[in-house]
Amino acid sequence: MNLQDQIDKNKLPRHLAVIMDGNGRWAKQKGLYRSIGHENGTKAVREIVEACAEIHIPFLTLYAFSTENWNRPKLEVELLMKLLVSSLKKEIKTLQKNNIKLNAIGNLDALPKRAFTELHDVMDQTKSNDRMTLTLALSYGSREEITKTIKEISHKVKNNLISPGEIDESVINNHLYTQNLPDVDLLIRTSGEQRISNFLLWQIAYAELYFTETLWPDYTKNHLFEALLNYQNRERRFGKTIEQIKQ
Ligand code: IPE
Ligand code: IPE
Ligand code: MG
Repeated sequence: MNLQDQIDKNKLPRHLAVIMDGNGRWAKQKGLYRSIGHENGTKAVREIVEACAEIHIPFLTLYAFSTENWNRPKLEVELLMKLLVSSLKKEIKTLQKNNIKLNAIGNLDALPKRAFTELHDVMDQTKSNDRMTLTLALSYGSREEITKTIKEISHKVKNNLISPGEIDESVINNHLYTQNLPDVDLLIRTSGEQRISNFLLWQIAYAELYFTETLWPDYTKNHLFEALLNYQNRERRFGKTIEQIKQ
């Protein structure tokens, strides 16, 4: 039986998040420029997006560019932004064909104008699609998001729109970039690094973490299915006892 057939369709993560890492090292290993690594990374994006839509994962979130990534060499940042624009132009077909809605989280105002416009254009064109929501985390940093959230809620308190006593987890959730997304169930990071790098800190509170050595441009459907099978064999207890879970 192939890997895909072994997956229990009733036990899929509702929200899968991926830290797509290792493009630079992939290129370096082959004696190529980092840019070639990023270009090949976009092929893996297409493969994984299509696989998730096919097996029916409702929410997929991809970490594409962090707030810290702005500190990379100017040329690399420019290339990544160009790649974003060209990928959006190219992949709109894939999104429509697979009935995928595009969403974005992060400080999008920091993006170059062309990237911002193209992104909003594709989000607009796909807004009625409902098989899967694909969220790109762009210029995203969890600390920036939490800071923004605190600022917004503070303003509401100051203007008597909400009282401090009314601030609970759902109020905070409703001010995050991810306000329309459920909590993350499974977080995958490629390339062997075992860290979170400022990604969805609040939203992964109870996520299962899965780290793999595979570099992102080499990541295929079968790697994804392996991760999903591993996830399905875990017992998520959410603080309860094993006996409570089995009941
Ligand atoms: C991930 O690959 C892509 C981005 C962060 C934009 P990297 O570019 O971080 O690749 P490595 O980690 O240097 O190999
Ligand atoms: C995290 O990868 C950001 C993205 C995948 C977009 P990095 O390569 O930037 O993270 P660090 O620097 O290794 O923590
Ligand atoms: Mg990296």
